[in-house]
Amino acid sequence: MYQAIVRPALFRWSAHDPEIIHHQMMAAMELAAHLPPLLRVIQAVSADADPKLARQVFGLRFPNPVGLAGGFDKNGRALATLAALGFGFIEAGGVTRFAQAGQPRPRIFRLPADGALINRMGLPNEGAEAIAQRLLSQPRPAVPIGWQLAKSKVTPLADATEDYLYSLRTLYPFADYFTLNVSSPNTPGLRQLQERGPLTELLTAVVTEAQRLAGPHLRPKPILVKIAPDLSESALDDVLAVALATGISGLIATNTTVTREGLHADPGEAGGLSGRPLFTRSLAVVRHLVRALDGRLPVIGVGGIFGPDDARRMLDAGAALIQIYTGFIYEGPGIIRRINHGLAAHQTASPRTQEVSV
Ligand SMILES: Cc1cc2nc3c(=O)[nH]c(=O)nc-3n(C[C@H](O)[C@H](O)[C@H](O)COP(=O)(O)O)c2cc1C
Repeated sequence: MYQAIVRPALFRWSAHDPEIIHHQMMAAMELAAHLPPLLRVIQAVSADADPKLARQVFGLRFPNPVGLAGGFDKNGRALATLAALGFGFIEAGGVTRFAQAGQPRPRIFRLPADGALINRMGLPNEGAEAIAQRLLSQPRPAVPIGWQLAKSKVTPLADATEDYLYSLRTLYPFADYFTLNVSSPNTPGLRQLQERGPLTELLTAVVTEAQRLAGPHLRPKPILVKIAPDLSESALDDVLAVALATGISGLIATNTTVTREGLHADPGEAGGLSGRPLFTRSLAVVRHLVRALDGRLPVIGVGGIFGPDDARRMLDAGAALIQIYTGFIYEGPGIIRRINHGLAAHQTASPRTQEVSV
């Protein structure tokens, strides 16, 4: 029904600026987040992941491996509704120290023939302080919530570390894990933070601060780093070396790409490309990271996952968890359930399949 009726109507209505529909949906989901009886109905019809899909990753328990990728709920206004829809975890943000408006609109472009989006949002968000204030009176959903942190546009690159630390301190009580976004293509210079020197400085400072915030008796909250799909193998290996040396808890691969490979038609818009054309590259990056890490750190796979087959390939490549964004837009909320059903069916089927084939 979503693809036959709802999506065409929504896409037509917001043809000149796809962001309109995003704000309408967010408003509806935010409203639902404050109505527990409605949340229960949403949960009853949407979320029924098989308990055998639950897993423990970087010390947290995930009811299922399908998460919402960073950038959808930038201010954490609809977390309860997103959890009720069945996500196994939600990455809120990217949040910056200072509130910022992002780039001028339109800044999201749909490429339906390719199952893709191009966005140059530029991390619009209410700023760490305002978000933390609101979260004080908001109940925490039952699934793990990651807060993704990024550098404010007004902050010079040389002062980036202090920017991330400020947001870490401000949001520390509200997160189960943190992701450092050093890979958005829409904040000038941000991706330079993936280079060995700046990344070492940033991760060392953030890991040390998380340990201080946790105090002497508690485990610090896991710190992850989200990387771009456009890094060369040697740049990926640099990231790996820094990740292992600084003691972070995992990697997320990948953010959007600045390449335009595999498109039927390039609309000529600047920004990051997401969706189906990204899948092959994200999968290759995850595979490379998993091989090189050899179990030392978990990797979350994201990029172009549109259904259970893609999800399985990402998990088979060694991803501990997956995230979706563009697939959620194109396929609707039913994608979460479909992926989870597909994964659960495979989990029961595989031992028997193995017995038969032996
Ligand atoms: C409109 C839009 C906004 C995004 N904002 C963010 C963001 O704030 N931080 C981030 O790390 N990634 C952001 N992303 C990237 C996604 O989290 C994801 O890494 C990427 O889109 C690839 O996954 P997908 O193909 O399932 O969309 C954004 C993507 C889109 C389409």
